[in-house]
Amino acid sequence: MAGAAAAGGEGWSSRWAFILAAVGSAVGLGNLVRFPAEAGANGGGAFVIFYIFCVLLIGLPVLLSETLLGRHGQRSAIESVKKVAAESGASQWWSLAAGVGMVAAFLVLTYYSVLAGWVIYFIGVFAGDLGGPSGLFGGALSDYSVEQVQGILPALQADSSTMLLMHAIFMSITIFAVARGVTSGIEKVAVWLMPSFFILFLGITIYGAFTGAFGAALEFLFAFDPSRLLDPNVQLSALGQALFSLSLGSALMITYGAYASRDVNLAKTSAQIASADTSVAIIAGLAIFPITFAALAPEALAAVLAGEEQVQGGLGLLFVSLPVAFQTMPAGGIIGLLFFIMVFFAALTSSVALLEASVSWAVDRFKIARWLATAILGGAAYLIGAWASFSFNSQAEFQPLDFLIFSGQPVFGIIDELTAKIMLPVSALLVAIFVGWVANRQLIDSENGISGGLHRVWLFLVRWLCPLVITAILLFGLFPGLLG
Ligand code: ALA
Repeated sequence: MAGAAAAGGEGWSSRWAFILAAVGSAVGLGNLVRFPAEAGANGGGAFVIFYIFCVLLIGLPVLLSETLLGRHGQRSAIESVKKVAAESGASQWWSLAAGVGMVAAFLVLTYYSVLAGWVIYFIGVFAGDLGGPSGLFGGALSDYSVEQVQGILPALQADSSTMLLMHAIFMSITIFAVARGVTSGIEKVAVWLMPSFFILFLGITIYGAFTGAFGAALEFLFAFDPSRLLDPNVQLSALGQALFSLSLGSALMITYGAYASRDVNLAKTSAQIASADTSVAIIAGLAIFPITFAALAPEALAAVLAGEEQVQGGLGLLFVSLPVAFQTMPAGGIIGLLFFIMVFFAALTSSVALLEASVSWAVDRFKIARWLATAILGGAAYLIGAWASFSFNSQAEFQPLDFLIFSGQPVFGIIDELTAKIMLPVSALLVAIFVGWVANRQLIDSENGISGGLHRVWLFLVRWLCPLVITAILLFGLFPGLLG
């Protein structure tokens, strides 16, 4: 076996398997739901440009730092950082870098599975359209009026039992894959689903480009008002999104790095992972916006492009605007079905990683059986996610934290804001400081796979740019009052 001996002696069976698993963990609802939603809510172009800046100058150096910590440690994320700290004569407290990330990954999983449950529901809706199981989903899509299609998501959100059932189905599949282990579970999921994902993704993008309002989408995503680049909200959202999407600051890439064999060049692999993830996010925007824009009335589209009206943001984009658009497009039923199957594949290859981060730690730390750790942690994530799902109905008004970015947010939104905009940046910040300043240089340089000018650039980014920029964005994003 080529992989490492982390947490139970398992590892990736090849370099290719590592790349597919890591890309699979990165590409997910973050790219397909969160990215277009955040771009829509934060003015399109300015967000996209700042996002690309964050990926290149913060994400990429942190990604290499995380994978190398894992590969050197060869254990679960927290134990790997502890090992590097011990070999560097540094405090064990640096393992907090991975600890904060691991808790964040667990919390992200709780609501991620609820959203992925909606995806399963919409697969059912579109399968019903094609003569599949219609009972649960209420019949063929083509029989619905536009208002009825717009009502599918609100109806689902109001119906807790169906939402919980879908959430249970998705979490059970995730638990099943993780319980089978790294090579026979997580790797198999990635090796089968990621190539299928990319084939579907390519097809749907081409379809969107030819049938949708491609020019308008391009204008929306890339034309921007430079003053919004300086908006601390836009900056914090873009940083949070870049980390979320690349699975950074969440112990995942440390965990996955630990299963990589010594012959993998981590710098090269990190670049491949970051380019694949970022391309999918941008291309997803270029697929989703043309399709939804095509369904807008010309005046409504003009208002969106002029920045006078916000594009239907958030979850509504994927679960309301897109189904409406599919309903009105040629072959929309089958394309809609394939689209949601594609989103499901992407979500599953990410959710297994989100669960694996804490499972590998529990197995490593407490020496318990993998299936037991998976069942306990997956079960707990299910329960918290179930509670968060009530934010869409009975507990929508329960907004317990009336400060900072949490104001006006129910539990579901609080978990999302807390993880993406605080925990992931804090974990990434600690990783950068630890790798840049604290860890033994020889040890780090023997793992990172780069030399010469590239090495100097990377070291500069990890030592200076990442800590300073992440701290500044966090401070000004959380306390905009500091700017006067
Ligand atoms: N990185 C994963 C995603 O983008 C969590 O969905």
